[in-house]
Amino acid sequence: MDNLIKSTLSLLFIGFSLSGIAQNKTSVTPQPSADAPQISKHIYGHFAEHLGRCIYGGFYVGEDSEIPNLDGVRKDIIAALKEMKIPNLRWPGGCFADTYHWKDGVGDKSARPTIVNQWWGGVTEDNSFGTHDFLNLCEALETEPYISGNIGSGTVREFAEWIQYVNHNGVSPMADLRRKNGREKPWNVRFWGLGNEAWGCGGNMTAEFYSNLYRQYATYMTDWSNTSDLYRVASGASDGNYNWTEVLMKNIPGKLIEAVALHSYSVIDWGNKSSATEFSDTEYFQTMQRAFKMDEYITKHTAIMDRYDPNKKIDLIVDEWGGWYDVEPGTNPGFLYQQNTMRDAMIAGMTLNIFNNHAERVKMANLAQTVNVLQAVILTEGEKLILTPTYHVLKMYAVHKDAQLIPLKYEAPLFTKNGESLPAISLSASKGKNNKTNISLVNIDDTQSHTIAIELSKLNVKNFKATILTSKSLQDHNDFDNPEVVTPKPFKKIKVKNGAAIIELPPFSVVVVEAD
Ligand code: AHR
Repeated sequence: MDNLIKSTLSLLFIGFSLSGIAQNKTSVTPQPSADAPQISKHIYGHFAEHLGRCIYGGFYVGEDSEIPNLDGVRKDIIAALKEMKIPNLRWPGGCFADTYHWKDGVGDKSARPTIVNQWWGGVTEDNSFGTHDFLNLCEALETEPYISGNIGSGTVREFAEWIQYVNHNGVSPMADLRRKNGREKPWNVRFWGLGNEAWGCGGNMTAEFYSNLYRQYATYMTDWSNTSDLYRVASGASDGNYNWTEVLMKNIPGKLIEAVALHSYSVIDWGNKSSATEFSDTEYFQTMQRAFKMDEYITKHTAIMDRYDPNKKIDLIVDEWGGWYDVEPGTNPGFLYQQNTMRDAMIAGMTLNIFNNHAERVKMANLAQTVNVLQAVILTEGEKLILTPTYHVLKMYAVHKDAQLIPLKYEAPLFTKNGESLPAISLSASKGKNNKTNISLVNIDDTQSHTIAIELSKLNVKNFKATILTSKSLQDHNDFDNPEVVTPKPFKKIKVKNGAAIIELPPFSVVVVEAD
């Protein structure tokens, strides 16, 4: 047994375990419990940074564009995101956040200063997409805004004034400025990040220095309505930097913090990320190994948080995750534009199952990024727009939002490549407020199908409706000439036999079942 498997086995709770015996039939025992946590809808959140063509040339084409738009934002993007019921949107970064000075992006657009985007391609931006544009977009999307504030190069005053600008209903300098700029009512933004990747692009700080700075900034944050409703997120660790979480949990008093973040990207090797579309079987396996590490990271960061916060008052939020590959040939390396294949659907399905199964501590997550950057759900080219395989997974999984987790017990068969193994299947289940039982199943094994037998005795269901996302090849993707190569289809291969629902999962497929 290799180390990966050993460490996974030692961390198991109800969810899955690895058996040493390869098999292609798996029995699953649902363990519904009144004490099981709710799967926060915010686990299905998104992230839009001033990076490449995410905002400018993606979401935002400007009011004068011939592409149909609402105040400069593409109407087709708004419609697609509403269709997937996007619960929150993080903005303006990422690394960009700690260079952003919000006052540059309000008021008369023609009078706004420019900024050079130092992290992403060195391009000059005209600040035409600012606070009003973002918050009005969130209203149009019916989604909650999550603003990442500037700790790295900003000031406490600038941060506090931003909150006053967007949240204060009374008479105050910033609320008056907001009214002068055309917005009477506050937007009441709840989610605020205090910096981003403070250990790196957010200021290269030590955990000790950042936690002191965090305390200072958090002290002057108020929602300006005396409801103390702000949700303050500390810039978190990357991957397995457990010391970062330990120091934050030790140094930041509970009254000043609602959540600690975590960033983790599925990248094979920063020096050799692989092509987004032309990858080998080995590279596919390596990407899935990397994505599966999310379970270990969450488990270990949670164990640290449990020691300081046993009543789980502070949430863990994974506010950046997704696959990261080489940019598409011929595109700006600083723009992080990559295609999206069935490999990405596998990452999304497996990662969302991990988040669901950790719903007790993980209350929010943000896929990086929404449009034209990294594991995007939408790609655009001129007036054309395509939905990626990842989009379809997110939409299929929408049934889990705010549903109650149903823990599952099973032993996953192994998916083995070059002598290393991963669990071939991943599952999560929930009971929705509509009384339907939802089960999402992923088979990451690209070599064989796996049969799953879900015991029905505790589920009280007899009608099944299911959708599948799969394709002929792992490398399949949608492009601007062929936008529907990978699309969800109805899935009929569910039989009920001996008190169990028998589901045959084809190689590299995602299936979501709704039953009542
Ligand atoms: O999502 C791209 C970048 O990845 C973000 O700006 C940064 O936070 C992370 O390193």
